[in-house]
Amino acid sequence: MSGDHGLRRGLTNYGDRDFAVYLRRSFARSMGLSQEMLDKPIIGIAMTPSDFNNCHRTMPELVEAVSRGVLAAGALPRAFPTISTGEVFLNPTSMVYRNLMSMDTEEMVRAQPMDAVVLIGGCDKTVPAQLMGAASADVPAIQLVTGPMSTGHYKGERLGACTDCRRFWGRYRAGEIARDEIDVVEGRLAATAGTCAVMGTASTMAIIAEVLGMSLPGTAAIPAVAADRLVAAEATGRAAVHLLTHPRRPSELITEKSVENALRVLMAVSGSTNAIVHLAAIAGRRNISISPERMNQISDETPVLVDLKPVGKGYLEDFHHAGGVGALLRELKPLLHLDTVDVLGQTLADRLAEPLDWVNRDVIRPSDDPVSPVGGLISLGGNLAPQGAIFKRAAATESMFEHEGRAVVFESLEHLARSIDDPDLDIEPDDIMVLQNAGPVAAGMPEAGYLPIPKKLARQGVKDIVRISDARMSGTAFGTIVLHVAPEAARGGPLAAVRSGDRIRLSVKDKRIDLLVDDAEIARRLEQHTPPPLPERGYRGLYARAVTQAPEGVDFNFLQHESTARFGREDQ
Ligand code: FES
Ligand code: MG
Repeated sequence: MSGDHGLRRGLTNYGDRDFAVYLRRSFARSMGLSQEMLDKPIIGIAMTPSDFNNCHRTMPELVEAVSRGVLAAGALPRAFPTISTGEVFLNPTSMVYRNLMSMDTEEMVRAQPMDAVVLIGGCDKTVPAQLMGAASADVPAIQLVTGPMSTGHYKGERLGACTDCRRFWGRYRAGEIARDEIDVVEGRLAATAGTCAVMGTASTMAIIAEVLGMSLPGTAAIPAVAADRLVAAEATGRAAVHLLTHPRRPSELITEKSVENALRVLMAVSGSTNAIVHLAAIAGRRNISISPERMNQISDETPVLVDLKPVGKGYLEDFHHAGGVGALLRELKPLLHLDTVDVLGQTLADRLAEPLDWVNRDVIRPSDDPVSPVGGLISLGGNLAPQGAIFKRAAATESMFEHEGRAVVFESLEHLARSIDDPDLDIEPDDIMVLQNAGPVAAGMPEAGYLPIPKKLARQGVKDIVRISDARMSGTAFGTIVLHVAPEAARGGPLAAVRSGDRIRLSVKDKRIDLLVDDAEIARRLEQHTPPPLPERGYRGLYARAVTQAPEGVDFNFLQHESTARFGREDQ
C-alpha cells in the first residue's frame, strides 16, 4: 500500500495535518471504535437497503457477512449508504436515477477515507450505477450482488418474476383467466428475497460484473436466500482486504478485452437488451466504446448456450446449479480473451484451467448443441435508426423477421395510454406499432418499448406484433420489438417523421429498419418537427440537458471518461 491509508486517507490539507487526523480519530471514537481499530486500513461498504427496494431485502445480513470477512482479514469495515433504485417503485423510471446513483457512489467512494470498497447492489440499475461509479472513482473495488430470487409455485408450475408476470397478465387481458386467479398468482411471482428470477437485466448485469472481473468468480448467480450467498459475501470482504496488498483498480479490470468478453457472454446468455446500454455506459467511463459492427460480429459468431426465461425454459437458480458463469465460460473458451484479469489478480485462463463439477447440460448447453447458433441481440441500422437500434432476435417471432407493414403511430406515452385499448383504434395484426418521444431526453427512456398488444387484437388471439420505439423494454419481456432507436424522436431522429399509414420494413437478415418514405419527404417532415418541451429545473433539467443517446449508454456527457483524469482522488 502506498502513502496514507485508513483514516489518514484523503485528508483535506488546510495546514495542520496532524490536527486533522486527531479530529477524525476523536469523532470516529464516538462510534465506539478502539484506537487499535482506527490504525487499520479501511474497507468501505456501499450498501443500498431501502424499503422501496425489495430486491435488496437481504442487505443487512450481506453487510454483516462482508464486515466479518473484512475484520477477519485485518481491516476495518465501514458501511455507508448511497441511494437505492428499486426497479418498480420509481417514477417516471428507474433509468433516470441510475446516473444519480452512479454519481453518489463515485463521489462518496472518493470523498470518504477508504482504501478499497465493496459495492453491494442487485436490482437492475444498481449494479450498473455502482460499476460506473467505481470505474470513474478508480479506487480498488469489488462488486457483490444480492443474488436472484428462487421460484414460487402455482398449480404445479414454477413461477418467477417477472416473465411469468407478463405471461399471466397477458392471459388475464385476453380474458383467459379471472381476477381471483390473477390475485393468487400475484403472491407467488416474487416468492423470496432477491432479484428477478429470470435472465432479466439484474441477472445479466450480475453475470457481466463477474465477467468483467469485478466480482468474485462463481458468485453472480448464487440464490439470494442460499447460505452460500453469505459465504460469498464473507469472501468478498476478505478479497477487498487482499486488494490492499495486491491493488487492482477498476481501470485494470474494465478493459477493451474484458468488455468484449462481457458482450460475448451477454449474447450467450441471451441477456437483457438493457445490458447493452449499461455495458456501454460502464465501458464509456473508461473511454471504451462498443461499435454496432463489432457487436453484430460478436452476436453472429456466439451461440446462445443458456436456456432460461424469458426466451427459454429455466430460472436463475437452475443456471447456478448447472455450474453458473464458470460452466458457461468453459464452453465459450475458444471465443474469449483469456488474458483478462479479475479482482483476485487471476487471469481468465487460470480460472478456466481449474476443473469444475458440471451438473446440468440442459440449462447450460455444450457449444456443439446450442439453443441457437447465433447470439440473442443485434444492432439494426437503416434510415429509421441512423445511430442504431437494438433488436432481441432470441425473444422475437421468427416469422416476423422479414416484415413490411403499415405504421400505427403513438406520439407520446400519454397518447399510447389513451388509445391503446380504444375499440376504435385502427390497427390490424400485420401493422407496425410506433412509439415516439419515449427516449432518454424526452422521457428518461422508460421500459415502454414493450407496447401492450391492443386489447382489440389480444382478444382475437394476437400474441405478437412488430413494435418500434426509442424506449427500452424490461429484460424479462419478449416480442418482435425494435428498441433504443437513435437518435431519439425528441432529438430530431427520423423516428419523429413517421406518420400513421406510412410503410415500414424490418429486415433482421439485413439488420435494418427502414421507413419507406422518400428522403426529401422525411427531411421536410423533420424540419417541421417541434420537439416536446423539456424540464429545466433541478436534476430532471440536468438530465434532459446532459443525457446521451443509447449507443453512449445514456450516461451524462460530463461523466464520460475525461472526468477521471482531471478530478482523480489525490492519491492517484
Ligand atoms: Fe429488482 Fe427485477 S425488480 S431485479
Ligand atoms: Mg427489469
